Amino acid sequence: MPLDEDKYPAETGRRRFVSGVVGSAALSSVGVGGAAAIDAVTDAAGEGGGTTNFVAVENTAGPAPRGMPIIPVEITDGELSGLWPEYDPSQGVAVAPDLGGSGIDYSSAWFQYCGIQSDAAIYPQAERNNSFLSSPGSFDWQGDTEKGAPLTVDMFDDYEEWGNGIGRAGIGKPASVSWRTTDDGSGGVPVQVVRSVEVEKMANGEGEYGDLPGNVQSFISEATSQGFIAWLNKCTHFCCVPGFKTQEGSANFGGENAIYCQCHQSVYDPFSPVQSQFVSLPRPPQEG
Ligand code: FES
Repeated sequence: MPLDEDKYPAETGRRRFVSGVVGSAALSSVGVGGAAAIDAVTDAAGEGGGTTNFVAVENTAGPAPRGMPIIPVEITDGELSGLWPEYDPSQGVAVAPDLGGSGIDYSSAWFQYCGIQSDAAIYPQAERNNSFLSSPGSFDWQGDTEKGAPLTVDMFDDYEEWGNGIGRAGIGKPASVSWRTTDDGSGGVPVQVVRSVEVEKMANGEGEYGDLPGNVQSFISEATSQGFIAWLNKCTHFCCVPGFKTQEGSANFGGENAIYCQCHQSVYDPFSPVQSQFVSLPRPPQEG
């Protein structure tokens, strides 16, 4: 079944960009029916729900049904933030059509799962702080940062060597952050950021990344910057918060150099972007 092939890649050691797309194509027939079913049982006033195409860090093992959505990174005066697009009243979502000429519409609907569809942080018109704000706890190095301080590029100067004893050193330096917070720094959603040489190669389509489908390549070139990639850090299985190089036991499940969810051992590859599809849940009516 294509979905299973998508989740459990062959042991070739080669990334499977193309099959990720095959999997999402297979999903479409399922997704349309699911969207109709959800629309029928939820508040008709809910916005932005339905079949949604998105770009994810690929789910490579475990029970998670799909990858986690990538958030385009922006860097201004050395500070990192995540792109929040313009509200489109006709669609009821915030959307950046054809991001980077990729043909892919980056949308707030990408985050409408796991209860986040009810979170004020992803209300499309909400004026929120789009900076990536440090949320120390998972990584020792972030203990040197103040909680709520904006992430800056210079915090990652050692990204080509950094390691924490889990998996290999030098494959990327991660951080846990809050995104879309209120002015007082509360109420954001969990995001993980990694700076890696692999991301720089992805953006340039170097080596094996030359196999990326053209639209995904264009999206990644636009959505990453200076080797930084970011994703909404909510496992698509039962909504736990996973981590890149955060769990000692992840090696038992092949997740020591990847994103590992400790709840039921799902693994995601931050260096394998795939276009995928899911049925986003309608966003309940909310005061603006
Ligand atoms: S694997 Fe079950 S919540 Fe992540």
